[in-house]
Amino acid sequence: MLNGSGFCLREWKLSDEASLIKHASNPNVSRFLADRFPYPYTTDDAKGWLDYQTQKTVIDNLVIDIDGELVGGIGIDCRQDIFRKTALIGYWLGEPFWGRGIMAEAVKLMVEYAFEKFDLVRIQAGVFDGNPASMRVLEKAAFIKECISKNALFKHNKIYDEHVFVMIKP
Ligand SMILES: CC(C)(COP(=O)(O)OP(=O)(O)OC[C@H]1O[C@@H](n2cnc3c(N)ncnc32)[C@H](O)[C@@H]1OP(=O)(O)O)[C@@H](O)C(=O)NCCC(=O)NCCS
Repeated sequence: MLNGSGFCLREWKLSDEASLIKHASNPNVSRFLADRFPYPYTTDDAKGWLDYQTQKTVIDNLVIDIDGELVGGIGIDCRQDIFRKTALIGYWLGEPFWGRGIMAEAVKLMVEYAFEKFDLVRIQAGVFDGNPASMRVLEKAAFIKECISKNALFKHNKIYDEHVFVMIKP
């Protein structure tokens, strides 16, 4: 468990199902996320995700928890082959909790955990053009904008540039 100000990051539990659906099934949350985070976010989606997370032995994805309730999620995805020293970071928060500084702090905690726990030299985040709140989160967590990958993303029948932010292992 990693402690933040007024929240913690902890492992996933099967009993997170109701809160997961409540906060994840929101088009404002999934709008700039990968398609594997769908809208609507159904009971089957939640069960599949929770089965996967609770059976894993490598803990690379954590719940953002306030007062014992799930309010969001944050995780890394270690890349493979020649990219294996890099992980991609992803995160989301239930809409009622936006704008309180939670995610900037959660990203900092996750980065510290990831560099300590995994053999990584680089953590990378890809942000949809049009998601300035997420870009600001990464800036506040001391990520550097490395480049803009033109036409890199396709979602809801639209092509977007991807803003690539990185944290290099100190
Ligand atoms: C993006 C998201 C994670 C931000 O979480 P959060 O806890 O509200 O973030 P924080 O409060 O730490 O910081 C948000 C910053 O963005 C700023 N911001 C918010 N909306 C903004 C906008 N439209 N334009 C510019 N800045 C904006 C806030 O003012 C704040 O910066 P400040 O502290 O300097 O004032 C949250 O909105 C979310 O989960 N969105 C849906 C999922 C998502 O997009 N995930 C990221 C995928 S890359």
